[in-house]
Amino acid sequence: MFEHSYEEQLRLKEEEINQDFDDLFSGDKDVFPSLEENFRIRAEFKIGSLSQNYLMMDFDKNFLDIDVCHIVDKKILALMPLLNLEIKNNDILKNKLFRLEFLTSRDEILLTLIYHRKLDKEWEDEMKSLSEKLNIYIIGRSRKQKVILSRDYINESLFINGNEYKYFLQENTFIQPNRHINEKIISWLVDNAPNKDDLLELYCGHGNLTIPLAKNFNRVLATEISKGSIANAKKNLELNNIKNVSFVKMSSEEFTQAMNKQREFFRLKDVSLDEYNFSTILIDPPRAGVDEKTIKLISKFENIMYISCSPKSLKRDLLSLSKTHSIKKMAIFDQFPYTKHIEMGAILKIKPD
Ligand SMILES: C[S@@+](CC[C@H](N)C(=O)[O-])C[C@H]1O[C@@H](n2cnc3c(N)ncnc32)[C@H](O)[C@@H]1O
Repeated sequence: MFEHSYEEQLRLKEEEINQDFDDLFSGDKDVFPSLEENFRIRAEFKIGSLSQNYLMMDFDKNFLDIDVCHIVDKKILALMPLLNLEIKNNDILKNKLFRLEFLTSRDEILLTLIYHRKLDKEWEDEMKSLSEKLNIYIIGRSRKQKVILSRDYINESLFINGNEYKYFLQENTFIQPNRHINEKIISWLVDNAPNKDDLLELYCGHGNLTIPLAKNFNRVLATEISKGSIANAKKNLELNNIKNVSFVKMSSEEFTQAMNKQREFFRLKDVSLDEYNFSTILIDPPRAGVDEKTIKLISKFENIMYISCSPKSLKRDLLSLSKTHSIKKMAIFDQFPYTKHIEMGAILKIKPD
């Protein structure tokens, strides 16, 4: 049980953020609460080697037995006890199983089972019947082995300002954990993005933000370090029949070198950087934030849209960017309820000379 209600917890987070960013932005921030239950579309559990119960680490890094998990999506919630019964009663399924990863969309579930043993034909046959019985997709993983029974992705739809966008959610790539908040982040960006020129996006993942934002711009160039996410982003582009976006697998550090003409990249052979008319940049970096050279590149753009899962690195980066830009808007998205973590957004505009 928590000391404070969900509302109170969010209010306390808001208060802390307002204090932390007081010297940078004095306006009101847009605040987007999460659903209070069933908000997580992905969840990972360990399996007790003797009990075969679901285990999760608490804030002090002790493993806790999980009977019911109210924060996971209703589809995962319904599957958990059925699957646990199967694990307890099925030797092929439970033998050296140590971890489970659930990923769900509105209609489908992908379950990854991770083992300390080699997966054989017997396991495959058994899992095929289990996936039919439970109506889920199953992947098996163990050291240097990945067994996909039918597919390693599920179909998802997001609704942004009344428009539906379709995505393949691919196993083992970055996926925003809270669908409701993800839709709020994207709508906030779509509503606040300029409707002109071209967009450069760094850290684009599977095109989660890119795809709905594409219609605000003439053309979009989006880059990302993960090969799997870029392959997935290209499929998502086709799925939504979007023609004005190019995805390229590049780290932000590499892309900065390319933009500064310090290095040529074969991966950019089909992209004429000089032909783009970039006036807006969108970044959604990992927790560490943005490296110094990339910050320099970003500071040259007229408009900056920054989504961050770490207020600490966001503040550091905004302190640098506030030399050249003013902060026009900020938002708080409660992507991770009942934890200390929070997602934030900032919209910046270059200062006149
Ligand atoms: C917070 S996620 C955001 C992804 C995407 N915007 C979304 O909404 O799903 C950060 C992404 O940055 C990528 N990444 C991590 N380090 C990177 C780097 N140095 N250069 C480019 N991308 C990086 C990760 O692979 C991940 O996809």
